[in-house]
Amino acid sequence: MKDLKTIRGMPDLYDEDIERIVLVENTCLEVFKSFNYKEFRTPVIENKSLFQRSAGETSDIVQKEVYEFEDRNGEMLCLRPEGTAGLVRALITNGLTSEEIKKLFYIGPMFRYERPQKGRKRQFFQAGVELVGEGTSKSDVEVLLIAKTILEKLGVEYCLEINYLGGEKSLDSYRAYLREFLQANKACFDEKLYTRLQRNPVRAIDSKDEKIKEVIKDAKDITNFLNEDEKIAFAETIEALDMLQVEYTINTNLVRGMDYYTGTVFEFTVDSLGAQNAVIGGGRYDNLIEELGGKKLPAIGFALGIDRLSEIIAIENKNNDIFIGCAEVKSIKYAQYISNKLRLNNGDLVIESYLGNANVSKQLKKANSLGFKFVIIIGQEEQNTKIFKVKNLKEEKELSLNEKELMEFFNG
Ligand code: HAM
Repeated sequence: MKDLKTIRGMPDLYDEDIERIVLVENTCLEVFKSFNYKEFRTPVIENKSLFQRSAGETSDIVQKEVYEFEDRNGEMLCLRPEGTAGLVRALITNGLTSEEIKKLFYIGPMFRYERPQKGRKRQFFQAGVELVGEGTSKSDVEVLLIAKTILEKLGVEYCLEINYLGGEKSLDSYRAYLREFLQANKACFDEKLYTRLQRNPVRAIDSKDEKIKEVIKDAKDITNFLNEDEKIAFAETIEALDMLQVEYTINTNLVRGMDYYTGTVFEFTVDSLGAQNAVIGGGRYDNLIEELGGKKLPAIGFALGIDRLSEIIAIENKNNDIFIGCAEVKSIKYAQYISNKLRLNNGDLVIESYLGNANVSKQLKKANSLGFKFVIIIGQEEQNTKIFKVKNLKEEKELSLNEKELMEFFNG
């Protein structure tokens, strides 16, 4: 039945997959909060024109990857392919564009119509930060430290690649140079590819296409087109990273997929991921807020691919505490009463109230296989005597406790 299939590239998430995703999300949340970033939620649907104006009309995202649709009112909307443009839109819409430095984060689903493969989905989750209102190496360093802290907390080995793209003037002269360079090599490309490259020549620099790579390797890199101020700004960021002992590689081919980037750009990559090896991507976008109709405010941010990262982290065995079984079905009500008291007594405990009708030995096996540390079986006797046998499955010990002792025993 076609209508019961999941949409390609949009898997249902359950069992270990969702546990891994939640672990990455929680780690991001912890780190964002420890840097005093505040959450910002924007809708998953925006006007398509927002991404045409931000990511760029010629970007792959807008050209090929946006899930777009007309609503009942004839407006052209889309599922957001990324979080930055929506957040900038929201700052402007809500009049939040004072000069004051803003430190914001978001977590949520994004949608791109890409060819699904390992590490690449059509619905995926991003956690991102945007630091708005500060335009120097100080904010470059802060967002890089946030990204690095998350990866280190998750025990992931990574490489940080960094580059500097320069402002509109420098980028324009680089584009003009590349257009000429591509024209001189026109014979190497078919007509369609040549037209695409001429439209967005900077993207040729980090293309994975072998034909393009072969030609573009002889082109000059962006550093030749930066002005003195831009060279100094990049040098300051690099100096700060050195002082903080952050390891990095300068990759002059790193240009990123969206047109809004202006200064520092970066990616954190992980070897074990294969072709889709970027787990975090970001950079500075000092013109975007003004271009979308707000004040001229510098900004920098990144987004982390939660799904991609979740595929490579190790998760610990579950920490389950008490399995409360029942000697006979009619004791379940009392067992639920005891379970509830234990949960109220200590909200950190993971307590399973058994609701099935298997015999006690099967219940013990189940508790063992689910990794519970303690089992308490409740029957008529426990209900009458109010004495409970607490079996420690890990140490194969048993204790008899009255209700008060039971609560004290599990109170941390
Ligand atoms: P991005 O590089 O397009 O940047 O995406 C960031 C991360 O999202 C990637 O490094 C990757 O881990 C993950 N990702 C992207 N596409 C997919 C996909 N199809 N499936 C799974 N994971 C994916 C941005 O989105 C910018 N908004 C980042 C930014 C924030 N720049 C400044 N502020």
